Amino acid sequence: MTDLTLLLDRRLLRARKRAVPMQRHLYDLLRQAILDGRLLAGSALPASRVLARELGVARNSVIHAYDQLAAEGYVQASRQGTVVAALPNRQVVSAEPTHHAQMVAPAMANRVQALNRRRTAEQDLMPFMPGIPALDAFPSRTWRRLVRNAWRDQSSACLSYRPVMGELELRQAIATHVRASRGVVCSVDQVFVTNGTQDSLSLCAHALADVGQRAWLEHPGYGGARVACQAAGLRVVPVPVDEHGLAPTAALWRHQPPRLIYTTPSHQYPLGSVLSLARRLALIKQAQATGAWILEDDYDSEFRHDGPPLAAMQGLVPNAPVVYLGTFSKSMFPALRLGFIVVPEATVDQWQGVLGELVRRGQPAEQAALAAFINEGHFTQHLRKMRQLYAERQAALREALARHWPWPGDVLGGACGLHLALTLSADIPDAQAAAAAMARGLSPRPLSAYGTGGAPLNGLVMGYANLPAEQMDTRVKQMARAINAGLAR
Ligand SMILES: Cc1ncc(COP(=O)(O)O)c(C=O)c1O
Repeated sequence: MTDLTLLLDRRLLRARKRAVPMQRHLYDLLRQAILDGRLLAGSALPASRVLARELGVARNSVIHAYDQLAAEGYVQASRQGTVVAALPNRQVVSAEPTHHAQMVAPAMANRVQALNRRRTAEQDLMPFMPGIPALDAFPSRTWRRLVRNAWRDQSSACLSYRPVMGELELRQAIATHVRASRGVVCSVDQVFVTNGTQDSLSLCAHALADVGQRAWLEHPGYGGARVACQAAGLRVVPVPVDEHGLAPTAALWRHQPPRLIYTTPSHQYPLGSVLSLARRLALIKQAQATGAWILEDDYDSEFRHDGPPLAAMQGLVPNAPVVYLGTFSKSMFPALRLGFIVVPEATVDQWQGVLGELVRRGQPAEQAALAAFINEGHFTQHLRKMRQLYAERQAALREALARHWPWPGDVLGGACGLHLALTLSADIPDAQAAAAAMARGLSPRPLSAYGTGGAPLNGLVMGYANLPAEQMDTRVKQMARAINAGLAR
């Protein structure tokens, strides 16, 4: 019996998974033995015929395993037969799959360490989850037809790298739509398609500010903006909001001037106030004076419930340093992953150059289908229907709260969008209330989770857009009961 057959324990040989051919299994065992030093450099492997007989396997399997080891440099053919090659640093090399917990790896960047909240973005869909549009009311059949048509019309050239600005017909459709419905002042050249607002925020944070510069974020505010800024190495400064929107103090301007200012002027997220005209003009003026960029996140203002949508801040002052961020996550559906930025005219060339290096774009069929969806009037029709539906669902939520919600507090927002914010008194900690609701399969989000660094608020943000009006009463009742029980524990 050769040394090698002692080494290649028959149990190991038998431990072969069904789908793995014997030659591959043998190769793996031998390679591992070489890497971890059980087979030393210079030792000769037995002749293939001998080893095959001793192991009771086909000779071809041994020959193939030896050939593969030779091709990869683990063994060499010599006058003595097949000999193990000398490998550098053999003791630190391991081909065994290493368990993550034992893996010796450099740490992740400090910038992202704080982001690890052990939560995945894709959570189970549950009633009251904020930010989800009425998925049950999306015209899927029309959309499927347009996507099918778009794929049918694509030439093979469309499968190559696509323009970083996005498909021209979609950019044209977006420019026409935002000019008409949002008062955005732009030409098609200023419109760049992105993979949604998170992508836009990340791009802006990287392209418009340097590591260590300050980003002002609304407090409470959108976690996605905080994440994008932190991951780009910016210093986040929480800025208070009141009933007129973002309210930076003179001291903030003086002592912590920003490079980026993130704001949701049409519908403050999550409290729902609208940035007043006076504040909009002042913000633009101060930004111009200090060399700051304003990121205007216009995420859900298509759904205004108390009058026509308010015009965007972007078109208010010519050549203002405003980048307008739009998304189709609410107006279509989140999984589409399409959004856009509208950049100032004077910066188009620079943006084109930078994006040309920073990003790669694709989804030509989805972009073409979305352009057709907008151009054929389905988008406007869908928005009109959803505005009506969301108004009904919000009214149902308010009625249900009036009937079943036992705690005092304010209901904030609601002039626009897909959610309401509910304040709670200090004796009902929102995280505990949300956890109790979650245990019953309901997913309001605690207001304290929207902190960007300032003092936490206490309350719940409740999405209503994806919950049929007739279920609202039952669900609110369930939630109140769950929270009551949770607090009693
Ligand atoms: C304030 C705000 N902006 C933007 C978005 C949409 O982001 P995205 O386009 O990345 O889906 C959301 C989603 O919930 C949001 O709440």
